Amino acid sequence: MKKLRCLVTAGPTREYFDSVRFISNPSSGKMGWHIANAAERAGWETTLVLGPSGLPDASCSRTVRVVSAQDMLEECLGLFCDTDILIMSAAVSDVRPKVRVGQKVKKADIDLNPQLERTPDILATLSQMRRAGQILVGFAAETHNVLEYAAGKLEQKNLDCVVANDVSAAGLGFASDYNRVCLVLRGAGTVDLGNGPKEILAEKLVGFIAERFVKNL
Ligand code: CTP
Repeated sequence: MKKLRCLVTAGPTREYFDSVRFISNPSSGKMGWHIANAAERAGWETTLVLGPSGLPDASCSRTVRVVSAQDMLEECLGLFCDTDILIMSAAVSDVRPKVRVGQKVKKADIDLNPQLERTPDILATLSQMRRAGQILVGFAAETHNVLEYAAGKLEQKNLDCVVANDVSAAGLGFASDYNRVCLVLRGAGTVDLGNGPKEILAEKLVGFIAERFVKNL
């Protein structure tokens, strides 16, 4: 039987003003890195597209390193039509400078009111191209109204499942080894995976996707 192909994104993106200054966020990429390992263990041929991170390559078929939201989009566009399961856990920067200078700008010359523009929404772009049978899982990092906002993303981005992360509590979420996860499902309410180490939650998430969605492919 042909192996299912899984695409996982993880980590932050960096949006550079000049060669040394950028907009980003504190994501470490750990959750997605553990998901990629768990997906490979589940028997899926898995590619991890990883933003800037101190993590080593994951133990999946391929780890591709990218920097910006645009790089991540391009990499994902190249892989998506051969993907059966997309798990988009990357913390993609929502904005980027309109202008990027190739060299380091001298302190005295820094623009104190730089113009920003939105980055492409990678998940929404891929979702618009989705074909029957593809499983799309998004993430929602929220500090408040967690389930309500996650349910909104499920609808707006036309997903099968959103992994709602409460990033308000100290020691959970961004850059931590622990997380709190609840799954929001299309027409089927929520499934609480609880608190715990990211490694365990990643295993539970992949197990859930296998049981709920892959069985019906
Ligand atoms: N995402 C994406 N491209 C972006 C922003 C987000 O693909 N430019 C994806 C994330 O990887 C995640 C989902 O969309 O799977 C939701 O991301 P999140 O940051 O929680 O929400 P946003 O869509 O950025 O909306 P908001 O910041 O208003 O919560």
